[in-house]
Amino acid sequence: MNTLIIRGVRPYGEGDPVDVLVRDGVIAEIGDVEDDDAEVIDGDGAVLLPGFVDLHTHLREPGREDTETIETGSRAAALGGYTAVFAMANTDPVADNAVVVEHVARRGREVGLVDVHPVGAVTVGLKGEKLAELGTMAKTGVRVFSDDGHCVHDPLIMRRALEYSKALDVVVAQHAEEPRLTVGAQAHEGEQASRLGLQGWPAAAEEAIVARDCLLAKQVDARLHVCHVSTSGTADVLAWAKARGTKVSAEVTPHHLLLTDERLETYDPVNKVNPPLRTGDDVQALRRALAEGVIDCVATDHAPHAVQDKDCEWSAARPGMLGLQTALSIVVETMVETDLLDWRGVARVMSERPAAIAGLPDQGRPIEVGEPANLVLVDPGARWTVRGAELASISANTPFEGMELPARVVATVLRGRVTATSGRIPA
Ligand code: DOR
Ligand code: ZN
Repeated sequence: MNTLIIRGVRPYGEGDPVDVLVRDGVIAEIGDVEDDDAEVIDGDGAVLLPGFVDLHTHLREPGREDTETIETGSRAAALGGYTAVFAMANTDPVADNAVVVEHVARRGREVGLVDVHPVGAVTVGLKGEKLAELGTMAKTGVRVFSDDGHCVHDPLIMRRALEYSKALDVVVAQHAEEPRLTVGAQAHEGEQASRLGLQGWPAAAEEAIVARDCLLAKQVDARLHVCHVSTSGTADVLAWAKARGTKVSAEVTPHHLLLTDERLETYDPVNKVNPPLRTGDDVQALRRALAEGVIDCVATDHAPHAVQDKDCEWSAARPGMLGLQTALSIVVETMVETDLLDWRGVARVMSERPAAIAGLPDQGRPIEVGEPANLVLVDPGARWTVRGAELASISANTPFEGMELPARVVATVLRGRVTATSGRIPA
């Protein structure tokens, strides 16, 4: 029997410290507990939360193992407090069939540091032309489908995808970008892009697709998930759609909660991401929308890239930023220290809502006796300085390099097994 005691922790940051006894992967007791044979983690008053769930991670395997693998990405996830991640389908080959998604799931199980759920592509080769075999992939256990990196822009194909997703009880996650409006786009369309001479990516290219997809989802009574919401207008569209009963959920990334297009001043491609960094007004609106539940959850869009694909001229650089190991700290900085969310709110947006959206029965559960022990221990008082080279990812493209951030993951527990502790993966 595998027994773990987490001593002196405050579930959801509330009340006096308690001990949590975990037996065979399940929370067996909360209070003053003793068990001489148990492995012990000293919580030292840390905040105990349900393990984080990331609906949007790029693990790059198969195809770009020079930038990340399922193993290195799993390490980054465990160190970031995650107990489940969804691996996006834009790999090479694309995860648009049962063979690739089963490979990703199997490799995730072998590594065993975090539950790796493969996302299936919506269309064959992410080309937006022909629906992939959603049913075959769903049969292997795929819960989320997305062409992320590309928008499912054809409204008829999107409608069909939503109809299938309803029948299969899965969810389509849309990368909302009307491609006709973003040809050659390099930065948020606005003053800053004009000044820097960068081709603009208009807010309306995102908002128009989100509005259209909300209408389609309502029409066919399917669920829709919106990836990486980046504009205040999209938050308005979501609020409207939710008010009229659309089954829509949405995520925001840590970088869109903190960074603005003012960062583009230096032309450093570490700040290039899709959708692009927007304005300060957008950032404020996204924080409010997340606090109010208009945006349901935080997802990292962890997007590792090789040095040669980032350390080059702006227009040639690939979009994307690392996120798994900095997400919690950015959420604390932007949402907790601003009093927009308390720790229960953090549990909601980083664990409970994403688990519910993806339909994971054993993640994002309350911290109670009888519940699965998928947990993260957070030191809210810690401060640390981000160093890309020290992160577990193979790539180092973090826009937070050199920043001092609040809060650190003390330990991550997956079904009662310690997957990360004090910034290390246990042997
Ligand atoms: O910045 C991004 N990077 N946005 C995407 O949609 C795709 C991702 C990637 O795969 O690098
Ligand atoms: Zn995307």
